[in-house]
Amino acid sequence: MSRKLEKQLIVGLDVGTSKVSAIVGEVGSQGDLEIIGFGSHPSRGLKRGVVVNIESTVQSIQRAIEEAELMAGCQINAVWVGIAGSHVENKVSNGVANIKEREVSQDDVDRVMDSARAIALPDGQRILHVQPQEYVIDGQDGIREPIGMSGVRLEAKVHIVTGALSAVNNIMKCVERCGLHVEGIILEQAASASAVLSDDERELGVALVDIGGGTTDIAVYVDGALRHSSVVGIAGDQVSNDIAVILRTPAHAAEQIKINHACILRGEGGDEAIEVPSVGERPPRRITRRSLSEIVEPRMDEILVHARDILRRSGYEELIRAGVVLTGGSARMNGLVDLAEEIFQMPVRLGVPQRATGLREIVQNPQHATGVGLLLHGIEQMTRGNVTGRGTEISALPLWDQMRRWFKGNF
Ligand SMILES: Nc1ncnc2c1ncn2[C@@H]1O[C@H](COP(=O)(O)OP(=O)(O)OP(=O)(O)O)[C@@H](O)[C@H]1O
Ligand SMILES: [Mg+2]
Repeated sequence: MSRKLEKQLIVGLDVGTSKVSAIVGEVGSQGDLEIIGFGSHPSRGLKRGVVVNIESTVQSIQRAIEEAELMAGCQINAVWVGIAGSHVENKVSNGVANIKEREVSQDDVDRVMDSARAIALPDGQRILHVQPQEYVIDGQDGIREPIGMSGVRLEAKVHIVTGALSAVNNIMKCVERCGLHVEGIILEQAASASAVLSDDERELGVALVDIGGGTTDIAVYVDGALRHSSVVGIAGDQVSNDIAVILRTPAHAAEQIKINHACILRGEGGDEAIEVPSVGERPPRRITRRSLSEIVEPRMDEILVHARDILRRSGYEELIRAGVVLTGGSARMNGLVDLAEEIFQMPVRLGVPQRATGLREIVQNPQHATGVGLLLHGIEQMTRGNVTGRGTEISALPLWDQMRRWFKGNF
């Protein structure tokens, strides 16, 4: 049962508002990714993407990790963690460096990126993500791959995403309390984008809208680079809450009704009846699917209009030639793509994780776009040599030890 580790294992930990999931991937010699383990546990310690209760978050992480270890037959020591939340901000910065040998080398690129990173940050903020948008060599702009080009002066225009240090520290604290090493912190939008967007879409211009439980995360890519990222503090949880309040049904029943029956009908069809449990001793009631649609539609509409307004304000709306890609658990609602096309007035598709093989139910679920994307980002960082390589320490755990850990966690 224990797995021989000639291949490298990598683990992504998506600490979301609704669920914590751990995904174990096996990295092939060509950098290809096969998902071999998965664990998920409801998340209770986060609000709008930010940790508000360390104890509950630690417990959810532990459960998710144990489950993933058991499935993959390994012990997890190190993880790539996602970060999101409304504390995330965007900045654009420029860096300059001389080209030492008159031909751009990796060292010159590293120096110009360091120079671009050297920005004055407000107190309590730290850099989460740095992405070069273009390089300029001796005044010639629009260069994507500067290495090997001749010149004396190298400039870089970079997009920098910053986040609240406290939010980052809290999430790291939770992960480290579980005895795990944090390989890297990755912006969740960038992770989801790696999993669901094609290179062509990123080149042409695309907006990714990840509608989760607590937050809706937006990322805009134009000419292959991240140009803007934003977070809206409403998502699927509010939809469930609307159902609970309007139908006077318990929260868990509202969540189930939403997942099993909610769809966007826009006034058409939906005569079939749905049973709605009541609170207290009262008997259950029945409503039509159309009535349910009338409850969920205004909130989904509000979320998408928010996302569209952000896109407009970002100044990139005109450049989004490949349209919008919806992902995240709430994007699974039937009829949402059509509603989004009407609101954005551009083509919209549902984004499911690609570029990974293995456990199909994970790979093909928009809810796990962030989790799979964390692995893809991690692989990219590993191939660039930007990490300590602790992930390789993930060691095979005898079956008995796995069982013992699992029992300890569950009983
Ligand atoms: N089939 C479905 N139809 C509608 N909503 C769904 C469906 N499946 C899951 N959801 C909703 O998706 C949401 C969870 O999505 P996801 O797992 O992407 O969120 P998260 O990553 O935990 O949270 P966040 O990213 O906001 O921190 C929940 O609100 C859940 O009700
Ligand atoms: Mg999420």
